[in-house]
Amino acid sequence: MIESTILLQESWHALRRRVEDRLEEYVDRGPDCPDVLRDSMAYSLLAGGKRMRPILVLLACQACGGDPETAIPAACAIEMVHTYSLIHDDLPAMDDDDLRRGRPTNHVRFGDGQAVLAGDALLTLAFEILAKDIHPAEVAAACCADLASAAGPEGMVGGQTADLEAEQTGVTTLEELEAIHLRKTGRLLCAALRLGARIAGANDQDLTMLTRYGDCVGLAFQIADDLLDMVGDEGKMGKAVRKDAGHGKSTYPSLLGEQESRRTARRLIDQACEAVAPFGERGHRLQALARFVLERDH
Ligand code: IPE
Ligand code: IPE
Ligand code: MG
Ligand code: MG
Ligand code: MG
Repeated sequence: MIESTILLQESWHALRRRVEDRLEEYVDRGPDCPDVLRDSMAYSLLAGGKRMRPILVLLACQACGGDPETAIPAACAIEMVHTYSLIHDDLPAMDDDDLRRGRPTNHVRFGDGQAVLAGDALLTLAFEILAKDIHPAEVAAACCADLASAAGPEGMVGGQTADLEAEQTGVTTLEELEAIHLRKTGRLLCAALRLGARIAGANDQDLTMLTRYGDCVGLAFQIADDLLDMVGDEGKMGKAVRKDAGHGKSTYPSLLGEQESRRTARRLIDQACEAVAPFGERGHRLQALARFVLERDH
């Protein structure tokens, strides 16, 4: 366990650096577009963040015996989709937040209209990158389909819609809340794993194991996010805390209480680790990452 945490720390820094260098290339030297659009995209994309989804792409690729370098474009594409979702999530019409990744939110800096467009551009660029930079073409097409399904109406956007609706109607059962979390957060984490695996040439069995891991980690990740909204530190998180209750959000802690939420998250992480146990040593970093989700303070 300690050994795998060290392994993860070492690889996390190195992999993160590689992803960030490529993200910079994609945005700064990429699109021929108005300066303000490039600046607003770069502003949120290059503002840090844990880069959890790109790291998942690369670790899944490694776990399935692939070369993570070949998965860097997919790692960048997922981070672009995630960043777009954050920009839109922060808008006044949604969560109305002023702070993200330690800086004023995109709409505070660039205005609401430009923030919508920065999100639109990141979402679109992500698919251009997958289509052009993942080889062979059949794998690129499968990656596009996986990411579209995870980000779209069946996935993240559907989950965000249910989350907005629940602000009005409330959520009374754990099943309803779980269904929201699985879509809103879980599906994109699963897509990260599936893309990494596809690029490594994984078989259906590997994809199934990783999807099981992703569902559990996704739920636990959102439980941790809800708990950190309650007890976390704004400075460490780089975003406002103690907002969910004021918005009437149904969260794990609001439904189950803090202690039971923590127990549920721990159980999910154990299940995630079990799901990737058949990968043996190649899956150790994924297990360490799952543990990080529980222990994180940011
Ligand atoms: C925040 O995601 C939104 C949720 C899905 C809970 P992250 O906590 O991964 O945010 P960054 O990428 O580190 O900023
Ligand atoms: C948003 O969840 C998840 C997304 C799909 C963007 P939250 O609204 O809880 O995320 P934070 O707390 O603002 O990061
Ligand atoms: Mg939200
Ligand atoms: Mg939010
Ligand atoms: Mg939150």
